[in-house]
Amino acid sequence: MKIRIGIIGGSGLENAVEGEKIIVNTPYGEVYVKIGIMANERVAFIPRHGEKHENPPHKVNYRGNLWALKTLGVERVIATNAVGGIRNGLNPGDLLIPHDFIDFTKGRTYTFYDQKAIHIDLTTPYCPELRKLIIDVAEEMNIKVWDSGVYVCTEGPRFETPSEIRMFRLLGADVVGMTGVPEVILARELKMCYATICVITNYAAGMQKRISQEEVDEIMKGRMKTVIEIINGVVQRIPIERKNCMCGL
Ligand code: HPA
Repeated sequence: MKIRIGIIGGSGLENAVEGEKIIVNTPYGEVYVKIGIMANERVAFIPRHGEKHENPPHKVNYRGNLWALKTLGVERVIATNAVGGIRNGLNPGDLLIPHDFIDFTKGRTYTFYDQKAIHIDLTTPYCPELRKLIIDVAEEMNIKVWDSGVYVCTEGPRFETPSEIRMFRLLGADVVGMTGVPEVILARELKMCYATICVITNYAAGMQKRISQEEVDEIMKGRMKTVIEIINGVVQRIPIERKNCMCGL
């Protein structure tokens, strides 16, 4: 049976879905996927950083992860990302659903098209239908979400410098993370709808005294239940047909 919904869990959401563990063979290596039930629907869950959180942001098997979901029949991907807040007014614990991104990564593999000059359109990089569903579900649950924002992706694994954050703010970025790119791009190359729930875990560098991994993990842990509830609600309501977006074209 085809599985139409995939979930990519970032740091802190490794155990968001219980289920049977399978290995999917891809041209990019073996990928660990959990097949679970959410809202009476079979879903394919991938912990982005690997089963044992062994892959740092620059070593995540982005191509393998997306290829594995596609192989299982997935058409819609819901992801989560921990991010730092750049825009004034964004606070740790807030949720934000980005509508666009800026890529400041440096050495990743960005495409499945290595042998052909294919240029995909990213005018609307995140699926507008999926984004709206996430926002609607959250609002109906009385969970505050920021309904748009620009995600800047850095190479990591270090956090940024204050000057980098000032530059990103001038460029129009609202939140900063390390794992959004190339995931969103690869999803589009495979014609899958993709949207992500960003959890703001800290003020970006220079906006608070220092940033610690412990603090990021702690805030993430605190928001995990809410994020899973939202994903549950979204899974319940994702229409079978993809009629309201151009992600599959
Ligand atoms: N920068 C980059 N990635 C992050 C941050 C940050 O401040 N917080 C959580 N992930």
